Amino acid sequence: MATIVIRDTQETIKGTDEVRAFLESQEVLYEHWDPTKLPTELQGNCKIGDEEKAQILETFDEDIRSLADRRGYKKWDVIALNEDTPDLETLLKKFEQVHTHTEDEVRAITAGSGSFVIKGADTGYFDVQLEPGDVISVPVDTPHFFTLSDERQVVAVRLFIDPEGWVAHKFDDPAFVASK
Ligand SMILES: [Fe+2]
Repeated sequence: MATIVIRDTQETIKGTDEVRAFLESQEVLYEHWDPTKLPTELQGNCKIGDEEKAQILETFDEDIRSLADRRGYKKWDVIALNEDTPDLETLLKKFEQVHTHTEDEVRAITAGSGSFVIKGADTGYFDVQLEPGDVISVPVDTPHFFTLSDERQVVAVRLFIDPEGWVAHKFDDPAFVASK
């Protein structure tokens, strides 16, 4: 279950209904898939190859297609980050720049963990800490970035309307303070 921390006030929001209500108020999609549907050897496993990625897509096929039908996504894939990922630290530094996209950014976490840091309409930046099963969509043109948690590994399904359109546009925000 996701946890939200509002950076300015350090207010923490927990609990399914509370998290969902807050994210809805920010026009952020939030839903939950059942991570225990994965074969045991894939649960919590972030060191995976192409075969396991295909298995993950197969496991969540119904959930993926339901979300895609509702929101117009056309393509999907799986991304895995872990200590074996080449240049992980450089990659993370790149991720941690506030940016926007011209389509929404959807991630379903299937193993590991991470956070989206999103600029709220009236709350300032808030962190959405995601666990396996959490599905989130950052709305179009909303400043945000993604980062890993202390365990430094994650597996996520990504859904796209048009992968070509999913380009990061850097967002220079004097209001953003990187450290919490
Ligand atoms: Fe993004």
